[in-house]
Amino acid sequence: MKLRRVLLAGWCLILAGLSGCGGDKNSSTPVPAIFGTLDDGRSAMLYTLRNKNELETIITNFGGRVVSMHVPDRKGMLDDIVLGYDSLQQYETDRSYFGALVGRYGNRIGKAMFTLDGSVVTLAANDGANHLHGGLKGFDKVLWTVDEAASVPGRSLALTYQSPDGEEGYPGTISVRVVYTLNEENELVIEYDAQSDKPTVVNLTHHSYFNLAGVGVRDVLDHELMIAADRFTPVDEGLIPTGELRSVEGTPMDFSLPARIGARIGLEDEQIRFGGGYDHNWVLNGGSDSLRVVASLFEPTTGRMMEVLTTEPGLQFYSGNFLDGTTRGKSGRQYHFRTGLCLETQHFPDSPNKSHFPSTVLRPGERYHTTTAYRFTVR
Ligand code: BGC
Repeated sequence: MKLRRVLLAGWCLILAGLSGCGGDKNSSTPVPAIFGTLDDGRSAMLYTLRNKNELETIITNFGGRVVSMHVPDRKGMLDDIVLGYDSLQQYETDRSYFGALVGRYGNRIGKAMFTLDGSVVTLAANDGANHLHGGLKGFDKVLWTVDEAASVPGRSLALTYQSPDGEEGYPGTISVRVVYTLNEENELVIEYDAQSDKPTVVNLTHHSYFNLAGVGVRDVLDHELMIAADRFTPVDEGLIPTGELRSVEGTPMDFSLPARIGARIGLEDEQIRFGGGYDHNWVLNGGSDSLRVVASLFEPTTGRMMEVLTTEPGLQFYSGNFLDGTTRGKSGRQYHFRTGLCLETQHFPDSPNKSHFPSTVLRPGERYHTTTAYRFTVR
């Protein structure tokens, strides 16, 4: 509750003279608020989605980022459960992808290149020699256009972005649409669509760092995680999949039954060492295309539970291993080692170089369409 007040107070300052502050408390329809101004003079906005159960998320069209997500604990206390920042400027320089829409390609592409229809495509290398999360300026750093006609104030936000041919090295102009909806079933639903005028690859994801105990309270090691996957994609030292689909059985990667994240994260294991903890893609059971529960996350002290539903074949579980306390987030709080975790629904990393992985190729006339939902309950 405290964080929420601080955050709203910040926006009230920004909004001095405007009609609302993330929405009029007496009205059911929150109004958009100005978050800040980019160097080119365009304004980034904040949009509040709220449901009847008091869940509330605030999303900016800068990078399509979820800035806050307030959900109740088992006593009904609301807390912000996603890491992020107070100001637009911090999001502009962010290197952690807090809350972001990630594209064109979520996760890594080895050596920042691949071959498509016989031609070599060279991408921006922004993770050593590899390409990560769309490159130097991915979809997390662009200002998305709000499709007001397709948005329902207070309930859904439709964002569009046209990525030009050659952006970050990718072929084809792609038109992307992402719709965030906060429904009465306490789900934040994300629907992704894309079309291209040339053959290309697309793999969109969402990059919120969750801590169901509340932001900045403690690390995530006591959270219990279940991932409905019998296999994962082991990686090399650069976190590029080797191509193997390996059984999780008998390894620290086995989350087929709920397990405490901290229980095996310190084991001497090559994969844990390469990831600096968990930073791997799980091969979700049930293939792709049907929306099904693929993961659940439970925080025992607050009773908060989050289920992840997706149509995607893969899930990257990243345990916040690169957070080291140097990043200051909301209200100046330091984000220490493993104080947030990501559950990124996706196609597998480096798919453009792995012909036996589910394909990420999008051709003219085809429609890329995936759905992911984060559902909040208590136990
Ligand atoms: C990746 C990590 C990476 C992080 C970026 C995650 O999706 O798996 O390796 O460091 O994003 O902050």
